[in-house]
Amino acid sequence: MFLARQRLLATLLGALTFLALLVCAEPSFGNFPAAESLPKKIYDTIARSFGSSGSSNNQQVLDGGAAHEEFSTMDWSQYEDDMVLTFNFTSPREKKAFMRAAEVLVLDVWKVSKASADVRISRSRYRDFLRILPKSLRKSTSHSVMIEDLQHAVISTFPMGNKEMQITKESDIHTTAEMFFKDYRDLDTIYDWLDLLAATYPSYISLEVIGQTAEGRDLKAIHIHSRNSVDEKKTVVVTSGLHAREWISVSSALYAVFQLVTNNDKNQEGSLLDQLDFLFVPVMNPDGYTYSWEHDRLWRKNRQDTGFSLCRGIDLDHSFNFHWQASTGTPCSESYAGSRAHEALEVHHFSRYINKTKTEGHKYYGYLDWHSYSQSILYPYAYSCDAEPRDEENLLELAYGLAKTIRWTSGKHFEVIPACQDRDGFYSPDVEGSGGSALDFMYNIHAIWAFQIKLRDTGNYGFLMPKKYILPVAKEMYNSFKYFSDFILNPE
Ligand SMILES: *[C@@H]1O[C@H](CO)[C@@H](O)[C@H](O)[C@H]1NC(C)=O
Ligand SMILES: *[C@@H]1O[C@H](CO)[C@@H](O)[C@H](O)[C@H]1NC(C)=O
Ligand SMILES: [Zn+2]
Repeated sequence: MFLARQRLLATLLGALTFLALLVCAEPSFGNFPAAESLPKKIYDTIARSFGSSGSSNNQQVLDGGAAHEEFSTMDWSQYEDDMVLTFNFTSPREKKAFMRAAEVLVLDVWKVSKASADVRISRSRYRDFLRILPKSLRKSTSHSVMIEDLQHAVISTFPMGNKEMQITKESDIHTTAEMFFKDYRDLDTIYDWLDLLAATYPSYISLEVIGQTAEGRDLKAIHIHSRNSVDEKKTVVVTSGLHAREWISVSSALYAVFQLVTNNDKNQEGSLLDQLDFLFVPVMNPDGYTYSWEHDRLWRKNRQDTGFSLCRGIDLDHSFNFHWQASTGTPCSESYAGSRAHEALEVHHFSRYINKTKTEGHKYYGYLDWHSYSQSILYPYAYSCDAEPRDEENLLELAYGLAKTIRWTSGKHFEVIPACQDRDGFYSPDVEGSGGSALDFMYNIHAIWAFQIKLRDTGNYGFLMPKKYILPVAKEMYNSFKYFSDFILNPE
């Protein structure tokens, strides 16, 4: 099975690296090999020896019960041995050494900031990892367990038991919605629900298929038309789910669509619907999203072929055609940019769709790209901290306005930072550039106000927010979305 092979590959790579490190005298962080010094050749060798015959452990019975047959393609045991740790840094040097070590062992780093990082690691490789970290990070006071039982945390994000929803165009949207937002939903259920929503409000919602993914799924946009016909269609664009595992961004965007159209007679929604057009692409990465439901809950990229069979997928948020940069690492990187800009089909279709709507008279006043996690509002540019955004003062004012709205709604604190700082923190500068983001792309084609927002939390559940948070998160994001749209109509 493919997954098992990938894990085997990662383990072997780890073991090889580890040996290399031991040979390299003391494991201080000046002298361990860069990932690019052990790349394709080793991968290829391993691929040849194990490529077609990886064994898989298809255990589907879970301890703790609660197994659900409808997700029987998922090999739950892949998370069994894993935990997520948080490391605290006391210097940039420590952080750099940490990122290097994580890259060498092909670990999945969930979140990084100046001060800390969350990383997924198996219990069996924990010691190896510590050995290649600087001494100060090996101390037990430098790190703690964020998620002890990853398997359980993963399972707790899936609908339990018999909660499969049957949605038809004859269902009632209001009673359906009540059920709908109690759980995360798979792609088919989401698309059925969108069909129902469009059928309920045919006068101002249209669903548009903007292209097909590599695996042949529809990429769908929800177009909510302004009720007044005007020459210049002021348009707000919202995307979510660029990264497959960030389910909370998808549920929040769907909730925003629902609230906006069902509250159509209320004052604020009414005036927004009268004067603005909205384009939502709630599942920007349908293949990756489906893969995260059926095979690996923690999948991030799309599922496109990279020319390297062991590692599929392009990172949509590095694929856009604005300061696009080739990765120097392998396609196995979680932020692999593809071999050229817009190679990711979803990105190509989205860009074509934006071009098309532009020629139809839409003018992009606002863009929000919802991700998770870390509770931050990121403003342009992502590709470089030297590039200054237009009109920075007003951009910041709006960002703080969004943060304040969230704080009033739920008490949650969101920090406002330039996107370049987040990109710097996240990607190893040796492997990935910071270019090619959706945020920069949209800002560059003159979406006047543009932000990437990383939703809750700051590091308790990470990508695995239990379902009881779906509504609280959706509500604070909806309020900030309304604030955003209102600001666009009435800038101060
Ligand atoms: C890391 O820092 C956070 C925030 O300052 C703190 O709450 C946590 O206890 C620290 N972790 C360790 C292992 O010291
Ligand atoms: C969209 O338009 C820009 C120029 O305005 C062009 O460079 C780009 O290739 C177009 N994108 C697609 C996918 O056609
Ligand atoms: Zn993301």
